[in-house]
Amino acid sequence: MKVAVLGAAGGIGQPLSMILKNSLPAGSKLGLFDVAPFTPGVAVDLSHIPTDVEVQGYTGDDLPKALEGADVVVIPAGVARKPGMTRDDLFNINAGIIANLVRNCARVCPKACICIITNPVNSTVPLAAEVLKAEGVYDKHRLFGISALDVLRSETFLAAELGISNQRILVPVIGGHSGTTIIPLLSKVIGHEKIADDRIQALTARIQNAGTEVVEAKAGAGSATLSMATAGARFALKVVKGLMGEPGVNEYAYVEGGSKVAPFFAQAVRFGKNGWDEVIDYGTVSAYEQRLIDEAAPQLATNIKKGVDFAQKWL
Ligand code: NAD
Ligand code: LMR
Repeated sequence: MKVAVLGAAGGIGQPLSMILKNSLPAGSKLGLFDVAPFTPGVAVDLSHIPTDVEVQGYTGDDLPKALEGADVVVIPAGVARKPGMTRDDLFNINAGIIANLVRNCARVCPKACICIITNPVNSTVPLAAEVLKAEGVYDKHRLFGISALDVLRSETFLAAELGISNQRILVPVIGGHSGTTIIPLLSKVIGHEKIADDRIQALTARIQNAGTEVVEAKAGAGSATLSMATAGARFALKVVKGLMGEPGVNEYAYVEGGSKVAPFFAQAVRFGKNGWDEVIDYGTVSAYEQRLIDEAAPQLATNIKKGVDFAQKWL
């Protein structure tokens, strides 16, 4: 397996690449790319870790070298929020970055699974789909927005609420990856009936605002990097497992998966040899959760349209 990380020298890119260097199956390759000129140095640094994963770093005009032969491409390239900004405020800068990087993926590694971290995910993923369509290589089963950080946060907050181990909790998070489009299905958590309704609403709000909690705590120095690197690596490693034929590997992701709520929707997917091969139905939800889903639908539609409109002008 070869995994390429685009934006590999950044706050997410470096720890993400480190986890992958330590965790990819023996014999894998890691191709790092970033516009930051020290990116080859990041690769040299990682290459001293004694695992059987070969790592190369590229910058400048060498993006195709990082992408050559890639099975999975993870993209955290772009700018991050500062206090007072929404994820949508990042669109004007990050849209062009994603369009260009994804076009390169289409031309160099058209069969790769592309996993987008760059915000606003609700828009950058539909944008990427349009670029891939224009290049004639779009396969909805190979394009993902990484929303897994919302799942990690929900697991952490709910385990603390219930006083149980983080290892023993599963929290579905559907919808999208911004504000009220982040919908944790706390009614699915074993033991949720012990939590009062007002706490369910407070926990939901905390999960929806957790990115802002980090942005404010970092006070202008960026947004979540280390927790995102953990989420991004957990996600990419699951994609790799699926490609390698391991059965029963699932994760939540923002995909074009046939949801009735919105064309792109974060939901549980099962990974297979060709990307995600199945969406897992989230079943019945509480009245409160259904209201959140209904309210998120128009927001998701607006975010998706923004990505599609940008791509159509950019192409
Ligand atoms: P950062 O500024 O620390 O790193 C971004 C990196 O991208 C930098 O090294 C920069 O040189 C590089 N870059 C910029 N333009 C590039 C290009 N055209 N090609 C290659 N590399 C390029 O930012 P960060 O904290 O790593 O965050 C990156 C993105 O991830 C932001 O958009 C942020 O909002 C997003 N993010 C998403 C989630 C999520 O849950 N999906 C979580 C956290 C952050
Ligand atoms: C997050 O959820 O931490 C990321 O989307 C980054 C951000 O801007 O909040």
